[in-house]
Amino acid sequence: MLLSIIPYLNKSILEIFINRISPISNSFRIFILKEIGIKIDSDCLVGKNVTVKLGLSQGKKGEINIRAKSEICNGVNLECWGGAIDIDENVFIGPYTIIYGNGGVKIGRDTLIATHCKIISSNHTIPSKNTRIRSQPDILLPVTIGDDVWLGAGVTVLGGITIGNGCIVGAGAVVTKDLAPYSIAVGIPAKVIRTRL
Ligand SMILES: CC(C)(COP(=O)(O)OP(=O)(O)OC[C@H]1O[C@@H](n2cnc3c(N)ncnc32)[C@H](O)[C@@H]1OP(=O)(O)O)[C@@H](O)C(=O)NCCC(=O)NCCS
Repeated sequence: MLLSIIPYLNKSILEIFINRISPISNSFRIFILKEIGIKIDSDCLVGKNVTVKLGLSQGKKGEINIRAKSEICNGVNLECWGGAIDIDENVFIGPYTIIYGNGGVKIGRDTLIATHCKIISSNHTIPSKNTRIRSQPDILLPVTIGDDVWLGAGVTVLGGITIGNGCIVGAGAVVTKDLAPYSIAVGIPAKVIRTRL
């Protein structure tokens, strides 16, 4: 690739560039993302101030894969910490959504994730009072979100959760347990109120 000879330090500068310079075209943003090492289809849409971080875990570099026709809106933050974020075709990731991919996050095709959602694929252990929480390692907990799912505004999905195909999660919910396909769930913790079946 054209910029592959640029040393790592300069790639970091490119990351800052994609993160900070807003009035650049969609195709240029996609070009920069590819140069950073993100796999992204050329017909995706990428908004302003999208931040991405692949990171390293036990010597393994993180991976982000964004497939055809997906849209990543303004201010979305994708952080892998050496894990993986896999976004299938025609997915919409709403403004200011945060996805932590340390434990692995998979999002199925045609899924709609509204603004300000948080998808977290790890946890900390809760130590006894003599041990600092900060010193606890991450527990990696993969998250799978199926095809044709709708997460309303401000939904939080915790580590280890599977949200089945066709589910709807109401605005502001915190998903702490798996949701069967076509469930409609609301609240904290999210409870199923009916289904689409
Ligand atoms: C989940 C949702 C789709 C349900 O819609 P609906 O089927 O029309 O549900 P209703 O309005 O009939 O509400 C059913 C019950 O769930 C409750 N409820 C609905 N949405 C809720 C929510 N987000 N959190 C908590 N309770 C909720 C209602 O108060 C009602 O409770 P009741 O039976 O005790 O009166 C909708 O309320 C929602 O949250 N949509 C997300 C909107 C959004 O974030 N859009 C962003 C742009 S994509």
